Amino acid sequence: MSCLHYNGNDLYIENVSLKDVAEEFGTPCYIYSRAAIETNWQAFNDAFSGIPHRICYAVKANSNLAILNVLAKLNSGFDIVSLGELERVLAAGGDPQKIVFSGVGKKQIEIERAIEKNIYCFNVESEPELERMQQIASSLNATVNIALRINPNINPHTHSHITTGLNESKFGIDINDIIPLAKRISTLPSLKLIGIASHIGSQIVHLDPFLQVIDRLLMTYNQLSELGIRPSHINIGGGLGITYHDEHPPGIREYAHALQEKIKKQNIEIIIEPGRAIVGNAGVLLSRIEYLKHTQHKNFAIIDAGMNDLLRPALYDAWQNILPVQLRNTEKKRYDIAGPVCESSDFLGKDRDLALNSGDLLAIDSSGAYGFSMSSNYNSRCRSPEILVDGTHASLIRRRESIEELFSSEIMLDTVQY
Ligand code: LLP
Repeated sequence: MSCLHYNGNDLYIENVSLKDVAEEFGTPCYIYSRAAIETNWQAFNDAFSGIPHRICYAVKANSNLAILNVLAKLNSGFDIVSLGELERVLAAGGDPQKIVFSGVGKKQIEIERAIEKNIYCFNVESEPELERMQQIASSLNATVNIALRINPNINPHTHSHITTGLNESKFGIDINDIIPLAKRISTLPSLKLIGIASHIGSQIVHLDPFLQVIDRLLMTYNQLSELGIRPSHINIGGGLGITYHDEHPPGIREYAHALQEKIKKQNIEIIIEPGRAIVGNAGVLLSRIEYLKHTQHKNFAIIDAGMNDLLRPALYDAWQNILPVQLRNTEKKRYDIAGPVCESSDFLGKDRDLALNSGDLLAIDSSGAYGFSMSSNYNSRCRSPEILVDGTHASLIRRRESIEELFSSEIMLDTVQY
């Protein structure tokens, strides 16, 4: 559900008008609702209250320090995939003992730092990674908790770019290799197997793939138990979808209830790694129309946000709702909403029926997840500011990047006076 609502003809997020935000902070900009983020996180926490659980927010979805800090204050855990994400979580006050480290290509330096900070668990994705982990842990004189990430070969029926648990994908360990690896771990003095994990994809809108995954995880857990190896948790990953358009994903409660039914008989903790379901519908990208361009074939609204600000439509053909910040009573026309970047794939929405004037503001809804975090400087465009709304108050949580910052780390071989 969107976190936006009209008050008369004006679009609001919580009690703040988007027009006021545009005046104060300029466009394009990202705006998030603190209440929506907190409500979503609490919904997971409440829904899993019947069993031991740990909610590890997937930092990649939105990694702004202020957002991480809001979640750290709720006692959230975090799922990280890089040194940068680790340092962000620590800087935002996250508890290292609630961090799980996923990712298929962890570097030595990333593993060392995470061990030094005593994180809760590494999700290991291959045998060579396991060997590297043992070697580093032993050189640091540490005992390290690990979970094995299974590739269960289950189709989540989502976009191919965000499908991660099929045989042909690079993620996880073949289910048939888990038992031999678990036996190997019991011979490695510096590693302790505490969990088995999986993550089959993102924007999953059906319950069934999750139930299949949990069955596979439980089956593996039981096989390990028979060998006397008893991990203390299973990690189902993230992936719960949200409504962008006309999808009907299971609600957080329905999802949690179904998973709990499967595991409540076992004395085992569940870890989940939701990203999108916590922040996706809690944020919008606000942009201003620079030009209305009418050709013989099409109408274009050329706006000041582009694929460098929000990549999802260009990369995945993703559909996100586009709302006028001020409703007009004039006639609607069919528009493609395009950005200023020099690529034909630079669009935010196609074939939208809207009544527009040049200079109007548009809100691209449900941009809280994988919006800013996937933004770039392509076309040497400065990255947008981010704003967190709390009730009637809008706070800047990331400044607009300046032209100086844009190339401050670049080095010319000859000095130029300018
Ligand atoms: N855990 C792991 C190991 C992951 O790889 C991911 C996401 C998550 C958790 C969180 O998944 P979520 O709950 O947010 O679906 N850029 C794409 C999404 C990529 C997801 C990558 N992994 C998009 O904009 O749709």
